[in-house]
Amino acid sequence: MTQAQEAILLVGGKGTRLRPLTVNTPKPMVPAAGVPFLTHQLARARAAGVEHVVLATSYLAEVFEPYFGDGSSLGLHLEYVTEVEPLGTGGAIRNVASRLRSGPDDPVLIFNGDILTGLDIPALVGTHRSSGADVSLHLTRVEDPRAFGLVPTDATGRVTAFLEKPQTPEEIVTDQINAGAYVFRRSVIDRIPAGRPVSVERETFPELLSSGAHLQGMVDSTYWLDLGTPQAFVRGSADLVLGRAPSPAVPGRCGDRLVLPTATVAADAKLTGGTVVGEGAVVGEGARISGSTLLDGAVVEAGAVVTDSLVGAGARVGARTVLTDAVVGDGAVIGADNELRDGVRVWCDATLPAGAIRFSSDQ
Ligand code: GTP
Repeated sequence: MTQAQEAILLVGGKGTRLRPLTVNTPKPMVPAAGVPFLTHQLARARAAGVEHVVLATSYLAEVFEPYFGDGSSLGLHLEYVTEVEPLGTGGAIRNVASRLRSGPDDPVLIFNGDILTGLDIPALVGTHRSSGADVSLHLTRVEDPRAFGLVPTDATGRVTAFLEKPQTPEEIVTDQINAGAYVFRRSVIDRIPAGRPVSVERETFPELLSSGAHLQGMVDSTYWLDLGTPQAFVRGSADLVLGRAPSPAVPGRCGDRLVLPTATVAADAKLTGGTVVGEGAVVGEGARISGSTLLDGAVVEAGAVVTDSLVGAGARVGARTVLTDAVVGDGAVIGADNELRDGVRVWCDATLPAGAIRFSSDQ
């Protein structure tokens, strides 16, 4: 049997890089393809045979349980453990150990709560069992590894080092990075120090390696995206809608757009590139929206052009306004005839008058 029955999901981070989306909502609860992002991860874990999931919460912890309850609607048994003070990734894993039911040698899956991936979860567990490792890590290859922690392996896949963000070309010894999904032998979890912050990436893994533990890497080059930034989050949501990223939890058929049942879209509006229109959201006449996400209750007025952007819950984008690679926080109001580009972040509840900001001199 290669199945793992239990998983820990790390969902307690502050999600600072994703602000203002994470001002009111923890990152795993921000909707991607119409449902809180965490739903996709839970559904994928369930499809891989996981039955019991412990959510390690901290930041805005109170919003998870009212939404997911005991997990039965997803066919899971869910438990919640909240850190009063954030304990970091390793501390969070250690802090939920008492809720695990697995025996000392059983495999326990651990997932970062912000990774969208088509990882073959049973294959990772299979690698873990067949290699006899203490910890197994999903590794993915990236073109530019400079922003990541590198994880070189030997010919058998055994991890040889953990190298923090390399700067010089000589330091880039591999293009394999830690992809944020692990299998731990349960007894290894119990050995993480309790009651203080611990980083699994910077402390636990390097210490295990230097103490002679067996850490195994499995390179799986399937779809992988860290949804830590607004650009990545919007891309991930669109890829779920387009069917490029696999999830059993997309509420509808995959295609060019996903319009939730209570949304209103003008007949001549154009929605493409995996655009999502949330519950109660409104799209006006002639608006063109591509590769973007409108959260619940958002309004995009007539003639607006929204590309690769996110419009927060209840926010409003005025007529003819152009958004490209922009994030509009919950409840913000952008007046007509603005032009916002290049990663701009409009904070929650901010108000921008009509014609206030342009990037170009035309019109
Ligand atoms: P940034 O602030 O934008 O870096 O995001 P983050 O806070 O989510 O940090 P990071 O992306 O490094 O976290 C990786 C995963 O671990 C995410 O799923 C976080 O929710 C989770 N995480 C990070 N720190 C903690 C913590 O102290 N406690 C718990 N329970 N989870 C954490």
